[in-house]
Amino acid sequence: MRKKIIAGNWKMNVLPSETAELVKEVAAATKDFANVEVVCCTPAIDIPAAVAAACGTHVGIGAENAHWEAKGAFTGEISCPMLVDAGVKYVIIGHSERRQYFGETDETVNKRTRAVIAAGMTAIVCVGETLEEREAGKLVEVIERQMTTGLKDVTAADCAKLVIAYEPVWAIGTGKTATPDQAQEVHALIRSILARLVGEETAQTVRIQYGGSMKPANAAELLAKPDIDGGLIGGAALKAGDFAGIVAAGN
Ligand code: 13P
Repeated sequence: MRKKIIAGNWKMNVLPSETAELVKEVAAATKDFANVEVVCCTPAIDIPAAVAAACGTHVGIGAENAHWEAKGAFTGEISCPMLVDAGVKYVIIGHSERRQYFGETDETVNKRTRAVIAAGMTAIVCVGETLEEREAGKLVEVIERQMTTGLKDVTAADCAKLVIAYEPVWAIGTGKTATPDQAQEVHALIRSILARLVGEETAQTVRIQYGGSMKPANAAELLAKPDIDGGLIGGAALKAGDFAGIVAAGN
């Protein structure tokens, strides 16, 4: 049995001064749903406030990116040891917005993923196709490439610290959700690629989240699918009530 994992991705939306309140609201609103692992991934500058507010609760705090080097001359970057030191347990890697706007490639996804896992945190590795790629019949090819290169040299043992997030780019922030069947089809593909990379038994243990306009109204039917093990939530993670509604659907 894979424990469901619902993670908020706050993106660039919450001020440091607003952070403690939102984390506390999320903790209070989700406290009765013990079957779900609850995570808030926040902007780097919000992390100290988020970790302090989550202390003593069931909520884990995550970052939205991490550099692969432990230290050095990388102005503006944040390393895994820094995140660990701040109390971070999860890091989103390779979000489509980073691929689209910040030059993230499958190769840098791979470096970051291995660094996050080596530092003892859980990497939430994002994959997903654009509408153009889907319509051109390239869905399988794109997911294959993102998985194979992004997870190069990630071992079966590393998979205890690995979550995959399937986020069809056309469903992010658009209000268009993949249908449960469309999502399940890609989640099953992702699990079959994982099985080839790290073995069937390990592949069965890795959680695969769906992300893209997930909300309380559509969460239950998505989370009912056999290979959908949670959600990576953007807009609906900014309101504790909506986020808790999704967590409740996974409980
Ligand atoms: P939305 O839930 O706002 O569509 O965002 C999804 C996402 O990108 C989470 O990482």
